[in-house]
Amino acid sequence: MAVIVTAGLVVFNVLRPSAAPPPAEIVNDSLLVAGRVVFLDRCASCHGASGLGDGPTSKGLPGPPVGNLTDDKWKHGDKPEQVVGVIRNGVKGAQMPAWGGLISDASIRSVSAYVYHLSGRTVPSELRTK
Ligand code: HEC
Repeated sequence: MAVIVTAGLVVFNVLRPSAAPPPAEIVNDSLLVAGRVVFLDRCASCHGASGLGDGPTSKGLPGPPVGNLTDDKWKHGDKPEQVVGVIRNGVKGAQMPAWGGLISDASIRSVSAYVYHLSGRTVPSELRTK
């Protein structure tokens, strides 16, 4: 029994995308490495692993579609306080959850930085300090 449970845990952890090693372009950036783990665990189900809005649970959600985080224009703005605000407070009338209270402030900051990275934008310096 213990062997089966252990084997199951090993398979589960190997198949989890966040357990895969981070890609070379972010491997030396601890903020993005941390943000990627949060994104793959909490956000990719809707937003897709690359942020294209094609996650497995994105289809058939009530309200506005998930949208593509790699777009040039973000609906809720691309200033750091706007991005952090959307992630912390969610979007009323949409299926975007409010993550404040569910994940730590440090996770909100790192996942915000990772969203900038996914979209090809420069990570704002205010997300790096503090
Ligand atoms: C249950 C599905 C779901 C999950 C999980 C989810 N989101 Fe969203 N997200 C949405 C939807 C739907 C929208 C579009 C809201 C709108 O159109 O106003 C959205 C919008 C956003 C936006 C705003 C994009 C823009 O164009 O302004 C950001 C940033 C974002 N999500 C980040 C995240 C992050 C980071 C996580 C994980 C911590 C996450 N989301 C998890 C459904 C989800």
